[in-house]
Amino acid sequence: MRLLLTGGAGYVGSACLRYLLENGHDPIAYDNLLEGNREAVPDAAKRLVEGDIADVDRLTDALKRHQAEAVMHFAALASVPDSIADPEAYYRVNVAGTKSVLDAMRAAGTLKILFSSTAATYGFHGEMPLRETSAQTPETPYGTTKLVAEWLIKDYARAYGMGYTLLRYFNASGADPSGEFGEDRRHESHLIPLVFQAALGRRPKVTIFGSDYPTRDGTCVRDYVHTTDLAQAHRLAVESLEPGMGRAYNLGSGTGATVLEVLRACEQAAGRPIPHDFAPRRPGDPGVLVASPDRIVGDLGWAPRYSDVETIVRTAWAWHQRRPHGYSE
Ligand SMILES: NC(=O)c1ccc[n+]([C@@H]2O[C@H](COP(=O)([O-])OP(=O)(O)OC[C@H]3O[C@@H](n4cnc5c(N)ncnc54)[C@H](O)[C@@H]3O)[C@@H](O)[C@H]2O)c1
Repeated sequence: MRLLLTGGAGYVGSACLRYLLENGHDPIAYDNLLEGNREAVPDAAKRLVEGDIADVDRLTDALKRHQAEAVMHFAALASVPDSIADPEAYYRVNVAGTKSVLDAMRAAGTLKILFSSTAATYGFHGEMPLRETSAQTPETPYGTTKLVAEWLIKDYARAYGMGYTLLRYFNASGADPSGEFGEDRRHESHLIPLVFQAALGRRPKVTIFGSDYPTRDGTCVRDYVHTTDLAQAHRLAVESLEPGMGRAYNLGSGTGATVLEVLRACEQAAGRPIPHDFAPRRPGDPGVLVASPDRIVGDLGWAPRYSDVETIVRTAWAWHQRRPHGYSE
């Protein structure tokens, strides 16, 4: 299929782009490189269009030129603490930006969209593991903007004959098993890259927020899912999507690990102690977030292969060790 990936030079988007290429598809990335990396896109001269999703004309043109049959919409701002400090940017990029993407799709006649949604669209005080039917009552501006984007997509799809799949990721993590590609943002806020940056002396230590949660060791429990497994899910979802269809799937491993368990696994992989300290809980951080991935496993045969903590941490360490300064080296 001919596909356009907004945010396709970012961490998850570029992993999907490479996986789709390896599996016979013809994807291009559309990215403003705010956080993404040209080097993460193979054959970037041909496969990367630099542009902002707010630029509807440029995006429409890119869709038409590539004759895109579907869009995978990854481009977003994605830090919970930043969204609390600066909600304006989050509504502009995640909500208005999603509207731009849908308007460009209408103008170009592209009728299928996969959307990178998030566990943060759920409320955190109900059932665990979270199912697609769990209440969506987000507790942070990041989660709210992603939920509003889901509503936009549903309303456009209903009115304009589009088909959509909402993919709600839990904690995307790990690196390409080749060791050539991995996580590298200008503003890093994710646990595993921060831990390995501390292991490599790029930061003095990693801070763990909250040690008094009602969990097995007092630190937060999260569900880590490897980017290669996310990419497999995107492939299965796009290959089965038709105009008029509407679906939502959780993407998580179904098991959780505490922050301290991940830190210990990273120390094991790196073969050294990693400096860390503790700080109070952050607003918007629930104690436990774990997915039930049963729906996508049952409907599409999703079969995650890399999403155990040991494999995630081993592949991430191989990448960070090989490229301690990321793609810029
Ligand atoms: N990483 C996770 O754990 C996680 C979890 C749940 C959901 N998600 C969602 O998955 C998607 C990808 O996340 P990621 O971790 O790869 O983040 P990322 O920051 O690595 O990738 C986002 C990409 O979008 C691009 N971008 C941002 N604003 C843009 C704009 N206005 N126009 C064009 N491009 C723009 C950035 O340059 C970057 O390449 C996001 O939508 C995020 O909300 C991520």
